[in-house]
Amino acid sequence: MNYRKTRLETLEEFIIKRQNRFPGATGEFSQLLRDIGLAAKIIAREVSKAGFNHILGSYGQENVHGESIQKLDKFADAQLISALNRSDITAMVISEENDEAVQMGNPSGKYIVYLDPLDGSSNIDINVSIGSIFSIYMRQSGESELPDVREALQRGTRQVAAGYVLYGSSTTLVYTTGLGVSMFTLDPSIGEFILAEETIEMPDLGHIYSVNEGYYNAWPPGLKQYVKYCQEEVPDDGRPYSARYIGAMVADVHRTLMKGGIFMYPRSEKYPRGKLRLMYECNPLSLVIEQAGGKATDGKRRILDIEPESLHQRTPIFIGSKQNVDRVCSHLQD
Ligand code: AHG
Ligand code: MN
Ligand code: MN
Repeated sequence: MNYRKTRLETLEEFIIKRQNRFPGATGEFSQLLRDIGLAAKIIAREVSKAGFNHILGSYGQENVHGESIQKLDKFADAQLISALNRSDITAMVISEENDEAVQMGNPSGKYIVYLDPLDGSSNIDINVSIGSIFSIYMRQSGESELPDVREALQRGTRQVAAGYVLYGSSTTLVYTTGLGVSMFTLDPSIGEFILAEETIEMPDLGHIYSVNEGYYNAWPPGLKQYVKYCQEEVPDDGRPYSARYIGAMVADVHRTLMKGGIFMYPRSEKYPRGKLRLMYECNPLSLVIEQAGGKATDGKRRILDIEPESLHQRTPIFIGSKQNVDRVCSHLQD
């Protein structure tokens, strides 16, 4: 009998293959990524049964940002933290769902992990895309004591890996360790993430803009101008651009990664420092987008260069294809 050679590559195989490129690697970091992959599969399983597994709806509490916590937020948070706790690799976890940093009780753990366990909570109950975002740093000090929160306040450029899992029409895991961006799709029948694209490169210019236009009146004048520019009828230039807004940053940024264009969340009267969180929304997605050839700024500074002051701090963000981001910045500076 002739057996065909299969070319499918699993996430686990891919991680090990990458690890072998670094002769001194201990395998701990690979284990950490695999643990996140495991939690993602468990979350994806529950998300796919939403409606009859009592996971929908509110948990009856608010998070540190005064937003209603959904049951799935809590579930995802618990799954990710317990997956990271399977080994002694992670010393501390900072999650949107926990006001304080969570000490994992591993003074020898080398890594600090930030999580937005469930991004796009308002989409949970209506079967629209949601995701989990992660960002990984190395501890800076010696490893003999439990880390101090100050150790977690590192610039985005110091991320050793970042990525997300998108629970959409399929479950997709996208991550980077600074060597390009790779994407995997979950095959639910075998419970494995399969390599879908080894290196994603995004277009330099895209024809989609994404922003919550309901807040138009509160926008800075430069953003109003830029959106006018996007809407102008200039067929030779591919304008007007299309507008898309899913309301889950992870899904809006994923579309931007795949198709090009721009996603924007500016400061407003309601959110004078912007709404989205630097450490577990903007930094990880900015690293992914930059690694795919795009850009991310707060209008003035590169997101990854922002010196963090607190774990849950917010920032405005303009993220996507290089040319789109450069153009909005020039309007904002006018
Ligand atoms: P989360 O569900 O983690 O709290 O994040 C929601 C965020 C983000 O995903 C999305 O882009 C944004 O909130 C949407 O905000 P608006 O409803 O103000 O547009
Ligand atoms: Mn979020
Ligand atoms: Mn969230």
